[in-house]
Amino acid sequence: MPNSPVACLSAFLVVSLLALPSNAQNRSTEQEEAGITDQTAECQPYDYPPVDAAIGNFPVNWATATILPNDIAAAAKYQSIVGLIPNIAPKGTQPGSLDGVFDGSYNDTDPDCWWTSTGCTIPKHPGIPADIITTPEPSSLGYGFDDGPNCSHNAFYDYLWQKNQKATMYYIGSNVMDYPLEAQRALKDGHEICVHTWSHHYMTALTNEQLFAEFWYAIKLVVGVTPTCWRPPYGDIDDRVRAVAQAMGLRSILWTYDSEDWSEGDAGVTPASIDANYQGLISAAENGTFATAGTIMLTHELNNFTMSEAMKFHDQLGTVFKYLVPVGVALNVTQPYVESGYSLPTFQQYISGITMSNGSSSSSGSGNGQTPAGSSGSNPSSSNGQGSSSNKSAGSRSAVSSGGVSIALLGVIATVLVRLSGL
Ligand SMILES: *[C@@H]1O[C@H](CO)[C@@H](O)[C@H](O)[C@H]1NC(C)=O
Ligand SMILES: *[C@@H]1O[C@H](CO)[C@@H](O)[C@H](O)[C@H]1NC(C)=O
Ligand SMILES: *[C@@H]1O[C@H](CO)[C@@H](O)[C@H](O)[C@H]1NC(C)=O
Ligand SMILES: *[C@@H]1O[C@H](CO)[C@@H](O)[C@H](O)[C@H]1NC(C)=O
Ligand SMILES: *[C@@H]1O[C@H](CO)[C@@H](O)[C@H](O)[C@H]1NC(C)=O
Ligand SMILES: *[C@@H]1O[C@H](CO)[C@@H](O)[C@H](O)[C@H]1NC(C)=O
Ligand SMILES: *[C@@H]1O[C@H](CO)[C@@H](O)[C@H](O)[C@H]1NC(C)=O
Ligand SMILES: *[C@@H]1O[C@H](CO)[C@@H](O)[C@H](O)[C@H]1NC(C)=O
Repeated sequence: MPNSPVACLSAFLVVSLLALPSNAQNRSTEQEEAGITDQTAECQPYDYPPVDAAIGNFPVNWATATILPNDIAAAAKYQSIVGLIPNIAPKGTQPGSLDGVFDGSYNDTDPDCWWTSTGCTIPKHPGIPADIITTPEPSSLGYGFDDGPNCSHNAFYDYLWQKNQKATMYYIGSNVMDYPLEAQRALKDGHEICVHTWSHHYMTALTNEQLFAEFWYAIKLVVGVTPTCWRPPYGDIDDRVRAVAQAMGLRSILWTYDSEDWSEGDAGVTPASIDANYQGLISAAENGTFATAGTIMLTHELNNFTMSEAMKFHDQLGTVFKYLVPVGVALNVTQPYVESGYSLPTFQQYISGITMSNGSSSSSGSGNGQTPAGSSGSNPSSSNGQGSSSNKSAGSRSAVSSGGVSIALLGVIATVLVRLSGL
């Protein structure tokens, strides 16, 4: 074995380079990627030139995001919102709290409406909207999945496509950077994309600037759209985090029911216990719990088990709930992205069978990746003009009828990630 770190790294690179051609299938488009059925091949790394070209304009994958030194647009946007952020200190002992290590000194009266401490979802500070934890329409389930895009999600997305089922996908920016074509598939298939931060850390533990950057660098580069919704990793949100999200035009979406599907395989957690969690939601639906308003359950696109569970229970959920819809559809959010040329169906349209989204999105910028999140966080009504110009490529999955979704596959990959960052 090599005995120096450099030698190890070199050996690793050589092995990687040699291994890649034998297993990897070429893919340069969303369609090519979506056609891969071998899950090992799906998860092989691949190059996507727009990401390669822009990589220097984004934080390191899976590292806590900060505003990059030369990102003038991000710095200006941050300065414009800083006055809106309540004076609440980051929680926990740094940096351990990035992984959920909190110090226990938090005030029992929950002055910050800290979900992780008390489950609070109705802000204590003025002017901040409550978290979305239910859906307004009777017998509706806000259907969606955290932590994607998963490299091996084609079987699951094929299933959703066959069922004409759309969902809200809460994408992690770093996953979008790794798997840009998979992220593009969500948009192409008509799912709604929300941001699940850049690096999936506990948001209440971050500084204001880190929080901002976790949203800013999320998704648009890859998918060409800037989301207007996000979900906090671990549900870890307080009024400071909410305020930053609001200032960046992001609705905060949590949940009421938790499948805990991610924990399968942990000590004492079996597939049967996750089944029981799904069954609890089904029982509640059966006894009329959602007769006047619907709900949201936390589920994941995390691994084979979580996606298999989703498929296993899809039809049953569709029987006990009248409507399984993306959260944006449940809320009649017809303009789900900052970019105006893309629409989600209304709730009424969706339940009458018009499930496909329409529109086009353009990649931000000129393809050089600069100011990827440029306008992103911005209030949808105050468009920054980014995203409106340039290359639109119409693509439609061959089976898609209707107007066809057009997606900018070009330049900007990262935007999808964050503007939740968005991914
Ligand atoms: C990969 O596919 C693209 C277009 O589909 C093609 O231009 C390129 O030459 C292919 N690369 C390899 C290594 O096969
Ligand atoms: C906890 O919060 C309450 C209400 O905001 C405040 O009156 C009290 O002084 C706080 N206690 C501590 C130990 O900070
Ligand atoms: C996706 O799912 C597979 C198992 O199906 C898992 O091995 C992998 O780590 C997951 N994560 C990502 C980012 O694709
Ligand atoms: C309905 O079922 C749920 C889940 O089993 C239970 O928690 C709830 O109390 C039930 N409500 C009624 C009105 O029976
Ligand atoms: C889970 O893995 C099995 C075996 O590799 C595969 O056949 C199946 O399609 C996978 N399920 C999902 C949802 O990806
Ligand atoms: C959605 O729009 C329909 C039709 O206008 C309306 O009946 C329904 O109340 C709306 N739902 C929400 C949550 O706004
Ligand atoms: C999308 O366009 C098709 C064809 O023009 C139309 O029938 C459908 O209602 C549109 N869907 C939405 C959500 O606007
Ligand atoms: C649009 O795409 C074409 C072809 O890929 C490219 O040459 C051109 O530079 C792009 N324009 C912009 C504004 O990105």
